[in-house]
Amino acid sequence: MASSIRVGVLGSQGKMGKKLVEFLRTSAPEGWVLSAEISRNENPAPLFECDLVIEFSSPDAVISTLRQATTAGNKSTAWVIASTGWKLDQRRELEEYAKKAWIVAGSNLSLSVIAFQTILKTAAPLMQSLGMLPVIVESHHNQKKDAPSGTAITLQRIVSPSGPGNVQTHSIRAGKIVGEHVVRFIGQNEEIVLSHRAEDRSIFASGAIRFGQWLLKEKQQKGEPAGLISVEKIGYNELL
Ligand SMILES: NC(=O)c1ccc[n+]([C@@H]2O[C@H](COP(=O)([O-])OP(=O)(O)OC[C@H]3O[C@@H](n4cnc5c(N)ncnc54)[C@H](OP(=O)(O)O)[C@@H]3O)[C@@H](O)[C@H]2O)c1
Repeated sequence: MASSIRVGVLGSQGKMGKKLVEFLRTSAPEGWVLSAEISRNENPAPLFECDLVIEFSSPDAVISTLRQATTAGNKSTAWVIASTGWKLDQRRELEEYAKKAWIVAGSNLSLSVIAFQTILKTAAPLMQSLGMLPVIVESHHNQKKDAPSGTAITLQRIVSPSGPGNVQTHSIRAGKIVGEHVVRFIGQNEEIVLSHRAEDRSIFASGAIRFGQWLLKEKQQKGEPAGLISVEKIGYNELL
């Protein structure tokens, strides 16, 4: 019988962490065992005994945990990083850590959003050739800490690779909205609108698990890590 895969969750008491724990308890892939649930003020050491950690916490929590993993001499745990709102120096530290441990990171782990991004990569040059300029409108619940959202920042890069900072982006924070991203391509006398709306957080939990499966397979096949893997760089077909 194949040995089990020990899975840890960082940020387990948050909105996403709770959803992920519920998902892992009810519909984890075969062989996966939920082995550690770590929240604020808890010692992260049990995570370093896991084969895979999925985190939905904050960049501060991730960096602090990875520093402790380094001190503990841990390199074997693979990490799915979902938090958004990274500062440049934190992102650099994450990239540095990814030279010695397997890490995949993404601002949006819903597979439909990855498909949405794929559509936008094709659409954007077409819209540009028609003189239609992109404007992004993203909406989230009123407790979301970062704005614009990590997904909106990724979309800026996709719709305007040479000038992501110039894409007009509007953030709405209200009520309990799980997450909506609308890309409006606006011309002189017409408009094309492409959008994605998340209705339940389970889409991010199931996506995180799918990326975790992909990462463990990659680790098994390739051995040594080759730096931070961005979810947008993974071929969509590899995930299906
Ligand atoms: N990539 C994706 O697909 C995706 C999808 C959804 C959300 N996210 C991101 O995932 C993160 C979490 O989202 P959420 O909606 O679950 O937020 P949340 O409800 O605020 O949960 C975050 C959890 O992490 C804990 N935490 C935060 N900073 C910490 C620290 N420095 N040390 C230890 N624990 C810490 C929080 O504890 P306290 O409550 O005590 O602060 C909370 O339990 C956000 O960055 C969000 O943007 C990503």
